[in-house]
Amino acid sequence: RSDVAADLSSVLLSEEQLQTRLDELAAQIDEDYRGQDLLLVGVLKGAVMVMADLARRLHHSVEMDWMAVSSYGSGTKSSGVVRILKDLDSDLTGRNVLIVEDIIDSGLTLSWLKSNLRSRGPKSVEIATMLRKPEAAKVDVDVRYVGFDIATEFVVGYGLDYAEKYRNLPFVATLAPHVYGG
Ligand code: PRP
Ligand code: MN
Ligand code: MG
Repeated sequence: RSDVAADLSSVLLSEEQLQTRLDELAAQIDEDYRGQDLLLVGVLKGAVMVMADLARRLHHSVEMDWMAVSSYGSGTKSSGVVRILKDLDSDLTGRNVLIVEDIIDSGLTLSWLKSNLRSRGPKSVEIATMLRKPEAAKVDVDVRYVGFDIATEFVVGYGLDYAEKYRNLPFVATLAPHVYGG
């Protein structure tokens, strides 16, 4: 139970790679929103790590808010049916909103979320994600900031879970087949 290393197959993105990329994304975001209001919206629970690490790199007075959504109907396949489990506390009217995510897989969660937030009268809605799986996309989502495009394989760490575990790893790794019964 405690031997995490035995559950992992290989490190895909090291802690240093992730943090270096976040430096670049934060600098870009600072530049793009210079002199403007900015509300970061983190999507629980996966986005917790990237939200914390990105936000503290910004030389910008931001607000942070959180949403919890359930993207899956039954089983583990994305259905596109999204339910709000916890809504924002903030009023989005006239705000610059930047949705912060750990990963875009099928794109169904973000596609739904972006149009949901757009309907609330914000000035702008953009997306920042640490990871994206281009080959897994079922719907096209316009994403302003992407950390890394990765192949379609199951990854954990840096907020990403398998059965709620491995979120606390500071790096992104592939899971050993024995963990998911392979
Ligand atoms: C994961 C991930 C994204 C979403 C991406 O969240 O954190 O939010 O799935 O999938 P999609 O692009 O196919 O919609 P999950 O629903 O597992 O919840 P979690 O963040 O609490 O792990
Ligand atoms: Mn998530
Ligand atoms: Mg998950």
